[in-house]
Amino acid sequence: MTPAISPARLMRRLTALGEIGALEGGGVCRLALGDADKAGRDWLVAEMERLGLAVFVDAIGNIWGLRAGRGQGAPVMVGSHIDTVATGGLYDGALGVLAGLELIETLNENGIDTEAPVAVAAFTNEEGARFAPDMMGSGVYCGALGRDEMLAVTATDGAGVVGAELDRIGYRGSAAPVVPAAYLELHIEQGPVLEREGLRIGAVTGVQGIHWTEFTVHGQTNHAGTTPMALRRDAGQVAMRIAREADAIAAAFGPPQVATVGVFELSPGLVNVVPETARLTVDLRNTDGNRLNEATRRLTGFAETAAAQAGCTLSTRPLARFAPVGFDAALVGKVEAAARARQMSVRRMPSGAGHDAQMFAPLCPTAMIFVPSEKGLSHNVKEHSDEADCAAGAQMLLDLVCDLAGARI
Ligand code: GLV
Ligand code: MN
Ligand code: MN
Repeated sequence: MTPAISPARLMRRLTALGEIGALEGGGVCRLALGDADKAGRDWLVAEMERLGLAVFVDAIGNIWGLRAGRGQGAPVMVGSHIDTVATGGLYDGALGVLAGLELIETLNENGIDTEAPVAVAAFTNEEGARFAPDMMGSGVYCGALGRDEMLAVTATDGAGVVGAELDRIGYRGSAAPVVPAAYLELHIEQGPVLEREGLRIGAVTGVQGIHWTEFTVHGQTNHAGTTPMALRRDAGQVAMRIAREADAIAAAFGPPQVATVGVFELSPGLVNVVPETARLTVDLRNTDGNRLNEATRRLTGFAETAAAQAGCTLSTRPLARFAPVGFDAALVGKVEAAARARQMSVRRMPSGAGHDAQMFAPLCPTAMIFVPSEKGLSHNVKEHSDEADCAAGAQMLLDLVCDLAGARI
């Protein structure tokens, strides 16, 4: 049996990282490559060095700490992210990275060595909240996204460019990514299923496809009182029709299709002025790649027609296009078996959220472990997972790493 991780130590680290970028009243804001992200990275690197890991940073700012093995082979990698959305909680991403530190500390204090090296990684901009697309760092690491193209991405609010921000915070490195022997990610579920079914562990079978699209509608400002309805070029009304259509598509397609309008901005944004410009983003997801493509085609076609009907022009920008991903069947089986070996209740389930793990799936055997999210809340300052659940997930991560990396116990 592998040794027990320390739940108290894991929670101490979650609390410590949660204080960096903490929001008044709870929650955390560590938007990618901002000052709080830099402070979180500095804290993480110091923790890695304290645990004796060799720390690497690559050209897109991914950080990984390596614990040497007896052999020189590819490492078994665990990881996730420490950036958050602007209204984030303490667990999304952080749990996976900090459980990685916890498992290293448990190996160290028990004097356990492994045949394969073990790496703990934190990937840049998993959230995509400040720079699109999401999973940017892991996408570049795994070769699914172009490094130079990503370094040139401008922030969604126009304030900052990835490469310049990496330079500013001192995290543009030069380490060459290594293809791991296997990749494992512990994460909170971010949904209600495990809690509702009273289960402790989710063995994640894959991640649904994600399409993000930004629509910008250009019309004409005019007087809200004097301009007859038929003579307006109202960008706001077009944007509202696009938003309604996203909802209608989700209803027509049915589950698992989901649609979210997360950004909706009107300009000049004045009570008595017909809006000249409207910008909105639509996040469409489905486990079926063909259905997802169809949903995106239908929405973009609708948007073009709606803009033309209103005498407006439209620009459409794809911000993210990720196909659904299936994880390694054998490794998913190992996750399930590892839970059962610890008498933890477990079920197989797909992930609704995007994760760094999906980028690794084409490269090496990859799987994820989910633990319950209280009330299914995430991307919310009230996001919470119980200590016992976080600890159970971290223990499983250690058990699996010991197995995959050939621990001498
Ligand atoms: C990442 O958190 C996503 O699923 O949007
Ligand atoms: Mn996450
Ligand atoms: Mn997230």
